[in-house]
Amino acid sequence: MLGDLAARLRPGARVLDAGSGSGALSRHVKRMCPEADVTMAGLSPAMLDQARDVPATSVVADVQRLPFRNNSFDIVVSSWVLETVPEPRRAVSEYLRVLKQEGQVFATFCSRPDSLSGRFKTLPCAQSCGSASPGTS
Ligand SMILES: C[S@@+](CC[C@H](N)C(=O)[O-])C[C@H]1O[C@@H](n2cnc3c(N)ncnc32)[C@H](O)[C@@H]1O
Repeated sequence: MLGDLAARLRPGARVLDAGSGSGALSRHVKRMCPEADVTMAGLSPAMLDQARDVPATSVVADVQRLPFRNNSFDIVVSSWVLETVPEPRRAVSEYLRVLKQEGQVFATFCSRPDSLSGRFKTLPCAQSCGSASPGTS
């Protein structure tokens, strides 16, 4: 997944890290493309605080009700979040709502939420993340 994401990143690209936690994936994005314009959205202010080192905008927000305009991001990334929310379909629909027409969502999950089965193809982790998981380097 990271290779595909890197290929998509451009200076100035607006990237939303939905359910950013302590910013592991945003940190990766900024390493791959320092000029990307990253927004981290997460429920936990304490975890966002742990991401203070990431040069990005932080917003306390529920991924099921994102406080962003339609068509406002080039890329939405969301790692290990969909399986933790009560309404994953609603979260996916929010990801698509805030995404620009030509944008792309990159999402990972440990176990596919039942309500998404059939419409999401699951890749083995090695294929989706490569050898470096977002949390490890
Ligand atoms: C397993 S952690 C993954 C964090 C981060 N994406 C990463 O890759 O390290 C799941 C995160 O989802 C956040 N989360 C759970 N429900 C959420 C919601 N409804 N809206 C926003 N964030 C949520 C949690 O606060 C937690 O930070």
